[in-house]
Amino acid sequence: MDKLEIEGGVRLCGEVSVSGAKNAALPVMAASILGPGENIISNVPRLRDISTMGKLLAHLGMGYHQEGNEVTLQSKDITSIEAPYDYVKTMRASVLVLGPLLARAGEAKVSLPGGCAIGARPINLHIMGLEKMGAEITLTEGYIHARSKKLKGAVVYFDIPTVTGTENLMMAATLADGETVLGNAACEPEVVDLADALISMGADIQGAGTSTIRIKGVSSLKPLRYRIIPDRIETGTFICAAAITGGEVRIVNCDEGLIEAIISKLGETGAEIRHDSDSLYVKCPSCLKSEDIKTMPYPGFPTDMQAQFMALMTVAEGTSLITENIFENRFMHVAEMRRMGANIRVEGATATVKGVKTLKGAPVMATDLRASASLVIAALAAQGTTVIDRVYHIDRGYQGIEEKLRLLGARVRRVSL
Ligand code: EPZ
Repeated sequence: MDKLEIEGGVRLCGEVSVSGAKNAALPVMAASILGPGENIISNVPRLRDISTMGKLLAHLGMGYHQEGNEVTLQSKDITSIEAPYDYVKTMRASVLVLGPLLARAGEAKVSLPGGCAIGARPINLHIMGLEKMGAEITLTEGYIHARSKKLKGAVVYFDIPTVTGTENLMMAATLADGETVLGNAACEPEVVDLADALISMGADIQGAGTSTIRIKGVSSLKPLRYRIIPDRIETGTFICAAAITGGEVRIVNCDEGLIEAIISKLGETGAEIRHDSDSLYVKCPSCLKSEDIKTMPYPGFPTDMQAQFMALMTVAEGTSLITENIFENRFMHVAEMRRMGANIRVEGATATVKGVKTLKGAPVMATDLRASASLVIAALAAQGTTVIDRVYHIDRGYQGIEEKLRLLGARVRRVSL
């Protein structure tokens, strides 16, 4: 199990390039099920989750190949309709094959994703929507077994704006009979990216990026040629890494239009952030002001940036209230930050973070993807050396993070045991 060893205290300076968005690439890869033939997707990050999705699609009978940041998926033949537990347990986003498989093959058997470190993460809304579209769904031995000769358009209203729920139903609706309306739909940029990819395949979709999405079913879709948007969470993660070290960093191949809430909040802490069309310039003072955040669905402050922002607040001036409104257990990084000397008290969904002068390096453990990124950020500012265990979590969502940080001057190395 690899570890990352980080010696803190270095001011990050220089230029770093952002990779393609993991959470856009995963649904777009699943969408290739809908377009029989050779699908080519570019700007796909090289990540564990991406290869897990590729292996799952190969299990369904598709050809999968990734060369650099380009993925080719040959979906002419689908020879299986089953997404086994072994894939789903390692990556919940495997559930994204449910909608497209049902639309393409009339049947899908997908293992129910278990919970994960950050919460129970049910998929009841995915199932509710597919049933409204006429699918017969049974839950047996931990599997969702869905059947439908032909899905029909329906009006589906989500109790909660679910990102992958919106994506699953949008994909299912592209080949349904009639129009589907998704109400209280997720507005995340990754949902918009998927809609744009589906439209490029011939789908008829209006309203992606708003809370009401209308999909008119068509008879068939062609294979996709598509380029994934930049990863807004990786961009925000590097802004926090620059900020906690009082650094001066240019972040290229990003899209500031996707991270307005993050830029606004970081600006309130005292970070200077300027942008041009596809890059950001971040210059930070040696000490930032504490600010409060509440995580919300897009365009609010993203839950996937909560842990990284908390790391920043552990050494800010003042007290910060951090409220996690999306997941019920997304404070696993708090105990690890306390080991580094952070002053954090958690009551229910709110963490009170009192800034301290400095953190101290310590052995810590990553518990989930974004928590591991927050420990890297904390380690960059800590006095002494921090060793982060279980970095397979970070490899799920950040392509070559140690190389990218070393380019900015960080003293970081991977220890393979
Ligand atoms: C997506 O997860 C992202 N993953 C997550 O990113 C992200 O944190 C999350 O959206 C919220 O933005 C991918 O896109 C692959 P949700 P998803 O359905 O779709 C509840 C990362 O770090 N809910 O939007 O699974 C759910 O419990 C990952 O890259 C139901 O109750 O999240 C949660 O409280 C972590 N029933 C809320 O909705 C359902 O059927 C939002 O979850 C579905 C969701």
